[in-house]
Amino acid sequence: MKSKTNRLDRFISQNSAFSLSDTRLLIAQKRILLDGCVAHSIHQKVTEFTHVVLDGNCLKDNNPVYIMLNKPQGVVSATKDPKHSTVLDLIQHPQRGELHIVGRLDFNTTGLVLLTNDGTWSRKISLPETKLAKTYEVTLAKPLSNEYIAVFRKGIYFSYENNTTRPACLEILSPYTARLTLIEGKYHQVKRMFGFFQNEVLALHRVSVGQFSLGELELGHSKLLSTAEAALVSD
Ligand code: URA
Repeated sequence: MKSKTNRLDRFISQNSAFSLSDTRLLIAQKRILLDGCVAHSIHQKVTEFTHVVLDGNCLKDNNPVYIMLNKPQGVVSATKDPKHSTVLDLIQHPQRGELHIVGRLDFNTTGLVLLTNDGTWSRKISLPETKLAKTYEVTLAKPLSNEYIAVFRKGIYFSYENNTTRPACLEILSPYTARLTLIEGKYHQVKRMFGFFQNEVLALHRVSVGQFSLGELELGHSKLLSTAEAALVSD
């Protein structure tokens, strides 16, 4: 884009195969979205930070978006679901349609879920090499013992993946509750680790991922993270 602010028809002609005069038709056919809203005039301004989508294709990137959500029970960690509400349904942001989930939680697990439109960031968070600590509060069906601490630290062999879990830190808070910190995220990992002791997980709540902590964020609520906060993901 040549200047910082442009008129919509000029922007379209400079950034697509359509001409200045085609823009009126594109608008009438509702094929242009500006910041998630259908464009209504060729005179609308496209600024440095306007997000422009034509026929579903992004013509200009807006700022990256980073969101932390406290997921309630019974919400699917997906962007679409035919039956249940999804984490995306809980987000109100003009760019919500661009967001993807960074590290899912099970249907009944509550707690911290990150969402973003920045694929580089989510890949970095999810990479095993990043070794980002994930901390969960767990409520169990049977009482815990110190044996769990030693076994979780040593690692548990998962035959399905044919590998052993990385050392995990278990802090016993009461006979039936504990805080568990993992640096990986295998499928149903927490439930399977306690499953080693035939101890059912009754409630699971993720309180932090790396430096991102829920703090006082209420269930079902979300907050935007600044680019500076998001940049703190360690190498
Ligand atoms: N481990 C689980 O078993 N479930 C989750 O939702 C997250 C980690």
